[in-house]
Amino acid sequence: MGGSIVLFGPPGAGKGTQADAIVLATGKPQISTGDMLRAALAEGTELGLEAKKYMEAGELVPDDVIIGLIRERLKSQDAINGVLFDGFPRTIPQAEALAEIAEVSMVISIQVPDEAIVERIVGRRMDPETGEIYHIKFKPAPSEISSRLIQRKDDNEDAVRTRLSAYHSQTSPLAEWYLQRGILKSVNGNQAMGDVQEEISLLLV
Ligand code: AP5
Repeated sequence: MGGSIVLFGPPGAGKGTQADAIVLATGKPQISTGDMLRAALAEGTELGLEAKKYMEAGELVPDDVIIGLIRERLKSQDAINGVLFDGFPRTIPQAEALAEIAEVSMVISIQVPDEAIVERIVGRRMDPETGEIYHIKFKPAPSEISSRLIQRKDDNEDAVRTRLSAYHSQTSPLAEWYLQRGILKSVNGNQAMGDVQEEISLLLV
């Protein structure tokens, strides 16, 4: 499939969880704006420090910062045949900017009701060595690595509620925007991880 794919959905929908299999199936590199911002923050760059206050509060980072980040990233050689966007675009201005610099062939919307989101986010743990995403209940980590797992600073109940409200007010209108362009495909994200993966794989053939 030519062009880029967008993984779309509320926080905790399973975008990061599903990304690996899509990368494997399509050969397109994953571009996660959340991961890029966290890396910038860990390196202590100016951009990372600017993004920090928004991320920890669960608010969206300003569009110009995000669009600048994506423009730079898309200049890399590995982006030539399209990429898998994870967590971008998140506003109509971001989608408009993206439409000017890259072709999007499919938007995969992972649908999960709000009631399921808080439990997923609060129980999420990350392995800082491999980047693997775990969940205390839905995907427990092997016991030998459990002591090194970390929890994201924005994975608390207060920040999740702000992230959900940012999603509903600023991001969810994008579904209609992409539906009108005929490229939105929805999958049920409120089922076992393997079943979500199977639904997505049917879209990629
Ligand atoms: P970002 O890192 O993109 O966070 P997010 O969109 O809130 O998404 P998450 O990473 O929380 O969830 P996910 O869908 O990847 O779920 P996961 O697979 O981990 O953004 C963080 C912040 O950066 C934003 O708040 C904002 O400040 C800023 N930002 C980033 N991009 C931006 C942009 N474009 N514009 C402006 N600001 C931006 O799964 C979650 C948990 O559930 C895991 O524990 C997993 O194991 C579990 N799980 C997954 N699938 C299932 C399943 N089917 N059943 C049960 N459990 C499951």
